[in-house]
Amino acid sequence: MRLPHGEDPRDVVARGYDRMGATYASWAQESHDPAREEHTALLLDALPPGSPVLDLGCGAGLPTTRTLAEHLDVLGVDISFEQLVRARRNVPRAAFVQADMAELNLAPGSVAAVAAFYSIIHVPREEQAALLGRIRCWLQPDGLLVVTLGVGADPGTVDAFFDQPMYWSSYDAEAYLRTVAEAGLEVQSAVHRQVDEFGSPVTFLWVLARAPA
Ligand SMILES: C[S@@+](CC[C@H](N)C(=O)[O-])C[C@H]1O[C@@H](n2cnc3c(N)ncnc32)[C@H](O)[C@@H]1O
Repeated sequence: MRLPHGEDPRDVVARGYDRMGATYASWAQESHDPAREEHTALLLDALPPGSPVLDLGCGAGLPTTRTLAEHLDVLGVDISFEQLVRARRNVPRAAFVQADMAELNLAPGSVAAVAAFYSIIHVPREEQAALLGRIRCWLQPDGLLVVTLGVGADPGTVDAFFDQPMYWSSYDAEAYLRTVAEAGLEVQSAVHRQVDEFGSPVTFLWVLARAPA
């Protein structure tokens, strides 16, 4: 997938987060985001300590990767080199890999859960169904996915985010619930939650889904 000016959306995303430095992580840490807290707690309550967990689009690791890594064996994946430099410093007990999550290779059945908080929203929507299928394959039987998704149909937009051009893409919530089910995951809960972004409420779809036993 290419943007009208020929650029790969992944390059826009990686460059944007590289240049954002610590700004996004500071903001995410200070944001009042009960949905983030609830869904982090869901994973911590459901998983035995030390379970292998994949954090897709982990950013600088604050606050979620760090909280998960206090109890679980976390592999953080991010496309931004600079965010990972920070993540390694912020969460020394987790392991990190720089990769495009849509191209990531992991052994089938190797993780007990996948957390993808506010990250798949940056993957071109045409690639998201295949990504969900890959996530399903990486999960152990009964494994969990917790994912933040968009709620409106957006074929792909570049907009400013923390003063950097940033790319987003999404389907509507109904399409996502179908896509998650088609990936072979059973939706356990799906809720719309708002978070304040610079004084305006922005709505996301939070989905908890389970791989078959
Ligand atoms: C909005 S931040 C979310 C960070 C963290 N998960 C959180 O909840 O605060 C999105 C992160 O996803 C990463 N990301 C976006 N697209 C990606 C892709 N295709 N592969 C890997 N990481 C990606 C970005 O680099 C960025 O660090």
